[in-house]
Amino acid sequence: MSEAIEVDISDLPGVGPATKAKLEAGGITTILDLAASTVNELVDNLNITDETAHNLIFESQRILKEKGYLEKDLVSAQELYDRRAKMVRCTTYSNNLDKLFLGGIETQAVTEFYGEFGSGKTQICHTLCISSQLPIEEHGLAGNVLYVDTESTFRPERIAQIAKTRNMDVDKILENIHVAKVYNASHLELIVKALGGLIQQNNIKLVVVDSIISLHRAEFVGRGTLSERQQKLNAIMHRLKRIAEIYNIAIVITNQVQASPDTFFGDPTKAAGGNIIGHASTYRVYLRKAGQERKAIMIDSPCHPYGDTNFVITEGGIGDPDETKKTIPSWKKVPEKAVRKAASSKESDDDKDSEE
Ligand code: GTP
Ligand code: MG
Repeated sequence: MSEAIEVDISDLPGVGPATKAKLEAGGITTILDLAASTVNELVDNLNITDETAHNLIFESQRILKEKGYLEKDLVSAQELYDRRAKMVRCTTYSNNLDKLFLGGIETQAVTEFYGEFGSGKTQICHTLCISSQLPIEEHGLAGNVLYVDTESTFRPERIAQIAKTRNMDVDKILENIHVAKVYNASHLELIVKALGGLIQQNNIKLVVVDSIISLHRAEFVGRGTLSERQQKLNAIMHRLKRIAEIYNIAIVITNQVQASPDTFFGDPTKAAGGNIIGHASTYRVYLRKAGQERKAIMIDSPCHPYGDTNFVITEGGIGDPDETKKTIPSWKKVPEKAVRKAASSKESDDDKDSEE
């Protein structure tokens, strides 16, 4: 997991006290922060030349590669396999959702939940704040949580309710969740830049960003600002992905939806933020209401089959529909043709609700 890295920023060639102070003032306190920066970010924020910025990033990445924290330019499949072996999965407390994720929310990945209001995004985030604190043997991440709240919807009393329902030590659970209330887009950008230091100082194993887009969506209004907004979101997303890999932590983000007017068939709802968020998220899951339950649909994943499943929101956070109504995740379902043949005239509600 994310053991401390012993190289100090001032050990890099060409970094004297003045540069170190400049870097720190810009929120870059560790060599990992530096390695995850872009040349433009350093030039804009620190008032240094392109060449200096390039050298700083190059040197920090070289050291991290040497020490095995960052993948080398060329790695063998065996090395990648070993790195993946360090990946840990965190339970959502819903068996159905865990199965959809082939075991739970992964470290070394950015998992995105998108859906309309009330679809359960914030409830999943709250539940993960508790389950991630479980020991690894109990399918947690054995660490603390950083909750970046951009919509002012984080509720400690909801955390307390979930923890109490699950007979956990409420005070301890609350103590281990660090909340960053963020009020504008540049504040979010700063927090994301400082993430490396925060993760190391506080033994963070799960970072939640609820939501990734609301502030940028509210501040960058109109066509003229679209490309600037997308550039900023792109920088945030790439940094999150890099940080999830470097520190072997889970990052969960939520995203809003927008109507897609060019859709004539099927659900016209799509994730906000365009391809930039979709491409940078490792896993993308669409949530929607399905009667009293919620449906989660795996929209994009490098290794999961397309599938959907149902879960419910309860006092204990996220759970499964009760046994009698329990649906089988569709990645386990018999091909639809065979079901239709067997059922001939009988069609279940669940099939009507399914996306395929
Ligand atoms: P936006 O942030 O508005 O986009 O929505 P969201 O997707 O984050 O929705 P959220 O996760 O906040 O879900 C809200 C829904 O959760 C409510 O409509 C309630 O149905 C349900 N909910 C919240 N708290 C509880 C609870 O304590 N018990 C139960 N049973 N349901 C709850
Ligand atoms: Mg919400």
